[in-house]
Amino acid sequence: MSVLLDVADLHVHFTLRRGLFGQEKVIVRAVNGVSFMLQPGETLGIVGESGSGKSTLGRALLRLVPATSGNMRLDGREITKLRGRMLEFRRDVQVVFQDPYSSLNPAMVVADIIGEPLTLHHGMRGAARDARVGDLLEQVGLGRHQLERYPSEFSGGQRQRLAIARALASEPRVIVCDEAVSALDVSTQSQVINLLEDLQAQTRVAYLFIAHDLAVVRHISHRTGVMYLGRMMELGPTERLFEAPAHPYTRKLLDAVPVLDPAVQKRRKAARRNLPVVELPTPTRLPAGCVFHTRCPHVMDVCRHEVPEPVPVQGGGWVACHLQSSGPKLAGRPLDALG
Ligand SMILES: Nc1ncnc2c1ncn2[C@@H]1O[C@H](COP(=O)(O)OP(=O)(O)O)[C@@H](O)[C@H]1O
Ligand code: SF4
Ligand SMILES: [Mg+2]
Repeated sequence: MSVLLDVADLHVHFTLRRGLFGQEKVIVRAVNGVSFMLQPGETLGIVGESGSGKSTLGRALLRLVPATSGNMRLDGREITKLRGRMLEFRRDVQVVFQDPYSSLNPAMVVADIIGEPLTLHHGMRGAARDARVGDLLEQVGLGRHQLERYPSEFSGGQRQRLAIARALASEPRVIVCDEAVSALDVSTQSQVINLLEDLQAQTRVAYLFIAHDLAVVRHISHRTGVMYLGRMMELGPTERLFEAPAHPYTRKLLDAVPVLDPAVQKRRKAARRNLPVVELPTPTRLPAGCVFHTRCPHVMDVCRHEVPEPVPVQGGGWVACHLQSSGPKLAGRPLDALG
């Protein structure tokens, strides 16, 4: 496996100060020991409920927030603590956010929005730069003669195409897509997803595709990782993970997807009535042991004090759950040995 990005035991903690004089320190463990790899030309989907740390993981990769500990390597180069090599790094790792308004300056015309990274990273100016902007606009399906227009003159889907063109301008190795299609209607969503797939086939760019919409992630991702309270609970080939989820939390997420079948709805409603009412944990008050133990229907004694280690799963990937190392097995069965 050729490794483009290697993230090892990444932690991102925030310190909040509470109380009248800020005397009480509260630590938010937004990302709490996450490890994964990304190959060139690969899409890794990241799913998980709101607040599970998906955006913070993406922001740490983009160096928008500092890593508290752990390591990130791009092509073998350490990028966790960059000193004076920020420009080169910015070229290699780009982002497309949910709301292009926050990333596209509304006071700038398209020629400058997309041209800026061309000047910054490739020293391009004038007619040569405009020609390259035109090429990028064509590449994202917008037509090249839009250089003097403002973001407000485009539709939501077109603005997302502009954001993608801007991200592509520096010829990045990785693009973090944080809810990049979540604000779009379904047909625009599928057009933008097709575009992302075409661009990946042409350029071998890798995507870290963060989204709460499981159907979208299943469609676009080669592998998928499931986050809960700052931890990766399970990671594996997308089809295996969706067909045979090995982690109780992954199952819970998949079960939460709305269904039309009334019989299934009825069954789920009954199951919900039987669940204990618990206060949901937060990244400031993490449960000991397995962070999912306060909500897990399979909780065992060991879960309350021992953090489960990842074990490989038949069909690919791994899961961090004591059920898989000691208890009765769920669908995705572990292998006897690593590998
Ligand atoms: N800058 C910050 N300062 C303090 N807490 C933060 C900050 N950014 C995110 N958090 C907290 O970290 C946790 C994870 O947030 P986030 O990464 O946005 O989750 P997700 O994208 O999965 O919804 C949340 O509890 C959030 O409130
Ligand atoms: S380790 Fe225990 S509590 Fe955590 S998901 Fe597995 S069975 Fe549930
Ligand atoms: Mg988010």
